[in-house]
Amino acid sequence: VSRVIPVETFDLVIFGGTGDLARRKILPGLFRRFRSGQMPVGSRIIGAARSEMDTAAYRSMIAEAVAEFGGDEKNDTKSLDAFVAALDYVAIDAKGDGGWVELAGLVRSDVVQAFYFSVAPSLFGDLAERLHTHKIANAQSRIVVEKPFGRDLETARALNKTLAAHFDESQIYRIDHYLGKETVQNLMAVRFGNMLFEPLWNNHYVDHIQITVAETVGVGGRGGYYDKSGAMRDMVQNHLMQLLCLIAMEPPNQYGPDEVRDEKLKVIRALQPVAPHHIVRGQYDAGPDGPSYREDAENPRSFTESFIAMKCEIANWRWAGVPFYLRTGKRMKARSSEITVYFKDLGHTIFEGDVARHRNILSIRLQPNEGMDLQVTIKEPGPGGMRLIDVPLDMTFADALGPDAEEVPDAYERLIMDVIRGNQTLFMRGDEVEAAWGWTDPLINGWEARNDVPKHYEAGSAGPEDALAMLHRDGRKWRELK
Ligand code: BG6
Repeated sequence: VSRVIPVETFDLVIFGGTGDLARRKILPGLFRRFRSGQMPVGSRIIGAARSEMDTAAYRSMIAEAVAEFGGDEKNDTKSLDAFVAALDYVAIDAKGDGGWVELAGLVRSDVVQAFYFSVAPSLFGDLAERLHTHKIANAQSRIVVEKPFGRDLETARALNKTLAAHFDESQIYRIDHYLGKETVQNLMAVRFGNMLFEPLWNNHYVDHIQITVAETVGVGGRGGYYDKSGAMRDMVQNHLMQLLCLIAMEPPNQYGPDEVRDEKLKVIRALQPVAPHHIVRGQYDAGPDGPSYREDAENPRSFTESFIAMKCEIANWRWAGVPFYLRTGKRMKARSSEITVYFKDLGHTIFEGDVARHRNILSIRLQPNEGMDLQVTIKEPGPGGMRLIDVPLDMTFADALGPDAEEVPDAYERLIMDVIRGNQTLFMRGDEVEAAWGWTDPLINGWEARNDVPKHYEAGSAGPEDALAMLHRDGRKWRELK
């Protein structure tokens, strides 16, 4: 029995419908939803972009994109043909009148309407305005916007204002695709669906928490964007902060959009300013299998960080005194995104001769190998007497669910279906994004004012020495990247 939750018939317009994100993620994702039966018959997807092309050409472009970026499902050519038949294309001029009348003719007013702004933020205002002047959007329409949502507090505020001039907050879906990842939602299920963890989830029992998002890819190919952003703006301000919020927030009274987002906002507001010696910025040097950051970014004098490690504090009753160590970087030793909760050491051991330090460690793996494990201490089996060993209680989802499990939707497909369903829980609210920039701005301004030079790390390593030293000083260690 399929557990796919049906959605209503929709018209989804993708501005930037020929772009990278549309071809790599949005459309291959929609194809998977189509195949799983979640896209109702009669729903339409309308690609809109600058290039002149007809619908037939667009359909073949998307069929090729699915073949290139999709998984095994791309071999199902029958479904793929049926899917692309639901696509239309309009050549549109965001800053002029070209294409709008045609678009107005395609978008129906009696189905769910969603407009995905997969374009540069400088066009948001033009698109929002024209959707209204051409009477395409209405009070129920939804708009979806991508990161980067501004590059600081001021630009984020300006974007929020631009959108608010045309749409109500309840119509705006700001994507942070990390919130669409299966494990991220599972984090909430584990915290608030079990008796076991929540009583221990505080400074009495938790020693510290680590959040790592390590990537092996470099910035080659997107240096133009990345070199102006760096890891702080590209990853910390959004993805890592969202993870931090979910792990640290108070229990919302119910799993509803504003309930969850109110609690996340409180975490951001309780974040303390981070002292410069608690931040390590890094930039990768050439390694055995690739060029340096500066070559990748095509900027020989760049001081942009491709790595960041920081020690954060949340000033509230639950977390006072518990460090949250965040780290993210490109071209690191392994691709690994993981949240790890280190519980405190036992205060006393009753077992003679047991000198090892036993602690429970809960690790939540976002990717690869999604799942969780909890390190627990048991007696070493066998005749050796009362010897203790630490073993993982492994909850790898793929193993736990077995081969018959329903296909797990990827982040984008899940989030797009949430837009159609009108569920904003996994989207960032305007005040949340502003608060996040409000916390990162002074840190970025600080290192810009100091002309901070990032530390070097070899591509394929675990990051700069200083990042290791930062934890070492606290008597702790980063979780090994494997
Ligand atoms: C994007 C960043 O938001 O997230 C990229 O701009 C990064 O730099 C990517 O590579 C990581 O996403 P994922 O889902 O591959 O972990």
